[in-house]
Amino acid sequence: MTAPRTLPAHLAHPFSPRGRLDPYPAYRWLREHDPVHFDVTSRMWLLTTHADCALALRDPRFSAALGQRERVRDDELPPSMLTTDPPEHQRLRSPGALLMGPAAIRGISGGIAAEIEHVLDALAGRERIEATADIGEPLATGVLAELFGLPAADRAAFAELSARVSVNLDPLAGPQAAAAGRAAMGELTRFLGDRADAAAEAVRTAAGGSPFGRLAADERLTRAEMLGIAALTVVGGWKPLAEMVGNALHWLLPRKDAAEQVRESPEAAMSAVDELLRLESPIPFTARVTTEEVRLDGGVIPAGARVLALVGAANRDPAVFAGPDELMVLRSPNPHLAFGAGTHLCLGAPLVRHAGAVLLGGLLSRYPELRPDGDPPVWAPSMVPRRLTGFTLTT
Ligand code: HEM
Repeated sequence: MTAPRTLPAHLAHPFSPRGRLDPYPAYRWLREHDPVHFDVTSRMWLLTTHADCALALRDPRFSAALGQRERVRDDELPPSMLTTDPPEHQRLRSPGALLMGPAAIRGISGGIAAEIEHVLDALAGRERIEATADIGEPLATGVLAELFGLPAADRAAFAELSARVSVNLDPLAGPQAAAAGRAAMGELTRFLGDRADAAAEAVRTAAGGSPFGRLAADERLTRAEMLGIAALTVVGGWKPLAEMVGNALHWLLPRKDAAEQVRESPEAAMSAVDELLRLESPIPFTARVTTEEVRLDGGVIPAGARVLALVGAANRDPAVFAGPDELMVLRSPNPHLAFGAGTHLCLGAPLVRHAGAVLLGGLLSRYPELRPDGDPPVWAPSMVPRRLTGFTLTT
């Protein structure tokens, strides 16, 4: 192997505190100068082109099970679909579709619409709105509460637990935060377990029930596996969905034409969700480990190497996206990798697209004068999800 190249001194490493605020200059340099980069600090291989990231996500020589192993070694939970490779992966993923597949989303679309109306109603007359606390988090709580069929009395506890488990998303969270996240995961699993039997019973006895009830009533999985899927949905879904709102408004509100397109057409709103996720990918990378040596155009990765597919970099690759740093609401095709790709493609993507489009369209229609208010927001130093802090708005 030739000596690893290093980023020029004027560019902050994308994982350093300064680089996390704006990783794009470093992403660009890596993509252009060293697309298969061995990072001596993290001892990981960083992939930054769209072609290489897409390959790593789709090619079985890049194992997700091995890639996630270090993160989950202390968990008491059974392997989840995110931490397994085929064929075990498919055994877990198929029932997961009962909870969040397209049919499940169609079944609760009325409930989601009502939840979003409720979020929008609560903004009326407010002078100052915090994008995440007042829109994103109530949206995520409401939408997931529909999936789980949670009554109003459970919402506050569910929101609190969802926020606490979200720290499990960030591999760079310190050991204390990680320990707190694991403890919260145990509590969330118990919370969902306490509701699983009643949810399954509602599906068996009544015509209806919730997507969670259909998952809980399914007999293909053990109870621990079923609860593992349910908990993974909350960890992987609540915070990224909540934070997507602020990231999206940060791009949309200063661009009147784009906001107009989203306001006017549900199809444009749906397309905008993908484009906004491309530009600010809430989950900017995902981990794999190679099961054998892999030769790429930009270099050779040895067997057993830890690899990060930096989808946040791939999503701005000019080889695939014209005007990669610009918002084009109707961009088509838009083969972004913000939801991953291949076998682990985000199972929650239909829900995110649907809820995101209804929320953004409704918000901009109900509050056409919505605009940033106060100091410019800043990007949080956490890497996953990529998110803004202190983004305040006024109607
Ligand atoms: C903007 C919001 C979201 C983003 C950006 C996102 C992104 C992703 C990405 C990148 C992966 C692939 C990880 C990998 O390959 O290692 C993934 C997997 C997954 N996501 Fe999402 N996600 C979002 C919201 C959700 C929601 C709301 C749910 C559930 C309702 C969800 C459920 C899942 C599940 C279950 C997987 C694992 C799929 C598998 O391993 O087969 N996600 N997501």
